[in-house]
Amino acid sequence: MLGSIAALTVLASTLVNALTIRQTPVPFTYPSLKACPSTNLSVQCSCENKTTIENTCCSPTPGGLVLATQFWNTYTNRESEGQFLPARHWGIHGLWPDNCDGSYESYCDLSRQIDPEPSPNTTTGKPDGTPVPAWKGESATEILKKFGRYDLLNYMNGYWIARDQPNDYLWAHEYAKHATCFSTFDTNCYDNHQPFEDAVDYWQAAIRANKMFPTYDILASQGILPSNSTSYKLVEFENAFVSQVGAKPFFGCSGPEKSGERKVLSEVWVFAHVLGTPQFGQYKAVDSTTPSSCSNETEIWYYERTPSSEISKFMS
Ligand SMILES: *[C@@H]1O[C@H](CO)[C@@H](O)[C@H](O)[C@H]1NC(C)=O
Ligand SMILES: *[C@@H]1O[C@H](CO)[C@@H](O)[C@H](O)[C@H]1NC(C)=O
Ligand SMILES: *[C@@H]1O[C@H](CO)[C@@H](O)[C@H](O)[C@H]1NC(C)=O
Ligand SMILES: *[C@@H]1O[C@H](CO)[C@@H](O)[C@H](O)[C@H]1NC(C)=O
Repeated sequence: MLGSIAALTVLASTLVNALTIRQTPVPFTYPSLKACPSTNLSVQCSCENKTTIENTCCSPTPGGLVLATQFWNTYTNRESEGQFLPARHWGIHGLWPDNCDGSYESYCDLSRQIDPEPSPNTTTGKPDGTPVPAWKGESATEILKKFGRYDLLNYMNGYWIARDQPNDYLWAHEYAKHATCFSTFDTNCYDNHQPFEDAVDYWQAAIRANKMFPTYDILASQGILPSNSTSYKLVEFENAFVSQVGAKPFFGCSGPEKSGERKVLSEVWVFAHVLGTPQFGQYKAVDSTTPSSCSNETEIWYYERTPSSEISKFMS
């Protein structure tokens, strides 16, 4: 009898623990935007008003030209480590805060430098810039786990895929290089800022933004599918975006540097102005301020993936 009461007690406390674990909220990673309703930003997109923005936590300033960037790779070179590309999806590259004229800064806060392979290796990309030391501490995966964001980690390992390096090197690189230059991810935009909660917030925002521009589907809607036998023209890719989101993104191609010879489609950068924050606001696609690096004269190859480099178990 006593034994079964003890067993019941253990069972009950196990259940309570299970419920407690389920109900314990993960540490929040939301910025404090309480001051934003009075800033009148709900009526003006970033980069579209010359009025000084007083609370830069409410609208990205000066980096108000927000780029949702994606990669098209046909393999990862890390398949043996379980790093595969998501079928019928481009991979996420990042979310970048360009200035309204298309110029940009990088590695803006070296106290948040967690990039294991900084590129460039100085803040300006020039020898006289401040060196960006390689990070050897906590990984992006560990940061996500610390905040209980296994959901995000799982999604990122499905859709935010690096080539020739571990996925979490790419996530840390994007955060350290770009998020630190986004005013809305400044640590002072958070109440009781916990180290790297802004990183978790940034990764989530980058996913949300890139989901708004599903490149694979946008191109497929115009009959443009990856093919190793049929090539396309740059204007066909541009027109597909114009027809679906109303603006021309930047298309990046790899291949010889010589102008006119880059003909393997590998990147897309969708430029947008945002109403409110990049975390929660609305994105309005605008034409790219950077000319595409793909040749506008020759055929462009949008290659099929290596079948064994791709998996389709992830759902969007
Ligand atoms: C810019 O914003 C201010 C208020 O923040 C508003 O009075 C002004 O009309 C806006 N200008 C434009 C060109 O939208
Ligand atoms: C950056 O990389 C270049 C080229 O590899 C190297 O010459 C230079 O010393 C590096 N600078 C720093 C600050 O690490
Ligand atoms: C192709 O690009 C070149 C260089 O940017 C430009 O001078 C030319 O007008 C473009 N041609 C077309 C057909 O868009
Ligand atoms: C298509 O070509 C690319 C580039 O050469 C290659 O990586 C890929 O494996 C090919 N895919 C198929 C299905 O043949």
